[in-house]
Formats: sequence, structure tokens, C-alpha cells
Amino acid sequence: MNILAIESSCDETAVAVVRDGRTVLSDCISSQVDIHKIYGGVVPEIASRKHIEAIYPLADQALAQAGLSRAKLDAVAVTYAPGLIGAVLVGVNFAKAAAFALGKPLIPVHHIRGHIAANYITHPELEPPFLCLVVSGGHTMLVDVADYTKMTILGGTRDDAAGECFDKIARVLGMPYPGGAALDRMSRGADGSRYRLPQAKVDGNPLDLSFSGLKTAAINLIHNARQKGEEIDLPAICAAVSEAVSSALVSRTELALIQTGRRTLAVAGGVAANSRIRAEMTALAKRLGVRLCLPELRYCGDNAAMIGAQGYYEYLAGNTADMTLNAYATKSLVGETL
Ligand code: KG4
Ligand code: ZN
Repeated sequence: MNILAIESSCDETAVAVVRDGRTVLSDCISSQVDIHKIYGGVVPEIASRKHIEAIYPLADQALAQAGLSRAKLDAVAVTYAPGLIGAVLVGVNFAKAAAFALGKPLIPVHHIRGHIAANYITHPELEPPFLCLVVSGGHTMLVDVADYTKMTILGGTRDDAAGECFDKIARVLGMPYPGGAALDRMSRGADGSRYRLPQAKVDGNPLDLSFSGLKTAAINLIHNARQKGEEIDLPAICAAVSEAVSSALVSRTELALIQTGRRTLAVAGGVAANSRIRAEMTALAKRLGVRLCLPELRYCGDNAAMIGAQGYYEYLAGNTADMTLNAYATKSLVGETL
């Protein structure tokens, strides 16, 4: 089954063609990062307009790269939530028009379910059940993936996502948006022990996390040093932040693995590209004797191939939509099923 997949929830317009949920025939991305960089973050209205400009030619490009004619498409999958509402609506309306014109089913895909499915592309033998740590710019959560379309959120951040924490600290350090990857590169090989950063404890659910205190503490530390005219050891502060984020994620993931008894751990989302988190999750999996799946770097961040992968399983579960499908934005998903 060939699925044309569309993703436009943030600042990447992406179109892919995926066969049977596992084989990527084409995967095209048009990034807007250079435009939003000027403003230090995503400007929603600009993002929506750029999606409109990019999506049609990108879909043609994805079909050409896949070597398929439109007639060979069997369905259209699209991210319908969560995301910037204007941005998601561009993809949703393009997908609706495409599905209607082709006379093929329209499959709505939750963006986070898509991130999780990126692992099916990199690890063709991976099947549920497994535990998944989702770490992106907007989300940080532990998800029990009981089946391809049956998922429960076990815990997550009460405030900032891990990616938000990396990006805001990187911005104060003078790194261009989105600073997560630059902060990661800067931290490599450095000793983070020079700076002490707090580890947040949250009452209630032991699988919940909080990153806003860490973000504020790091930003205050940098501002205080600047006010005193002290030089910041850039690699050391980046290493300290990476260590703090990573160890918070490792402790909750370990507990979730023990609580659920799952024998496979997957990691997903843009922050899954972080070198320290990848290394520490590898060590955790080894220590607990569980199998670890990490997506290939290109499938960590937003892409449409992951939407095509999950779209296949949504289709098999009968989760198609009619032409009334609209985008919606969700605030917090914690405590709900995904
Ligand atoms: O999944 P994603 O592309 O978009 C969302 O759904 O949010 O994640 C983007 C986030 C950004 O915060 C970006 O800085 C972060 O992923 N990121 C990283 C790294 N690469 C991307 N954070 C830490 N280390 C990295 N290597
Ligand atoms: Zn994402």
C-alpha cells in the first residue's frame, strides 16, 4: 500500500511516499529554519504562508522521487494535531483535496504517534508492545505502546519540553534557533561538573518531569556571570545542561521500564538526536537488559515518512477520516490516551 504522507505542524513542510508502513520510497523536506532564525523562534503566521508556498511542488517532488504516478497512490495520510493551528491546517487541507481528487482514503495521524513510528522505519523488525520516550521541541512524555494504535501516556513534563529547555538556553548562549543541535555539538567531550544545575522533583506521578526550573537556573547562571564580567565556559555549561536533561530522562525511563515490564525501549522526537541522551539510553538499556531502538538521525526531527509509517497502521485499524477533518491544537496530553 503506497501512502502519500504530509507533515506541516511546525516549521518544516514535508511530503513522503511510504510503502506498507516500513519502506520509504521518497522523503522530501522544505525547512523554514533560515527564515525563523531571524526572529529567534517560529513565527506562526510566516510558517503557515511558507507551507502554502512549499507544499504543492514538494508533493510533486515526492511522487517523482518515488517514481510513482498519482494513480499508484492508495491513500493520503496527514498530521492533524498537535501543532501550530494555521500550519497544520495547510497540510490538512492539501491532504483533503488530494484524497478527494484521487478518490482515496484520508488518514489523520497524530504527530506524536508519527514520531514513535519513525522507529518502524529504522527498525523494520520492531513491533509493539514497547515503551517509548518521546522527546521533542514541544513534548516530553513516556508512552506505553501496547499496540500500533493503542497507546497510553504514563507521564511527562509538567511544563517545558526537553527541546524547549535546550533551545532557550542555547539562545541565551548566543546560538541560532533551534539551538538544541548546536548545544549538543558544543557539549561533546566537555566536563559539565564545573556548573551545578538543579534536578527538579515533582510531587504525584513519579514518572512526571519538570524542565522549567532547570531552564531558569541555567539562564540565571549565565546572566549572573555576565553581570559580574565572568567568562562562561561554553562547552562546560552545554555539557552541564545536557547531563541534567539526560539524567532526568534516564531516571523516569528506568522507572517506567520497571513498572511496565516492557522489554523494548524506543526513543523518538527531535531531541532523540542528542548524543548524550543516545549514549545514556544505550547504557540504560544494557544495564537493564532491554532492547533499545533509536531512530536514524534524519527520522528524529519532523518528517513526513514517520506520518506515512503510522498512517499505514491507522488505516489497518480503520482510522480513516471524512472530508470534515480539521486540524486542532492540543495543550496537554498527560494522563490521556494518545
Ligand atoms: O521533533 P522536532 O523536530 O519538533 C517537534 O515536534 O517539536 O523537535 C525539535 C527539537 C528542537 O527543540 C531542537 O532543538 C531539538 O529537537 N533537537 C535537539 C537536537 N537536535 C534537535 N536537541 C538536543 N540535541 C540535539 N542533537
Ligand atoms: Zn515533531
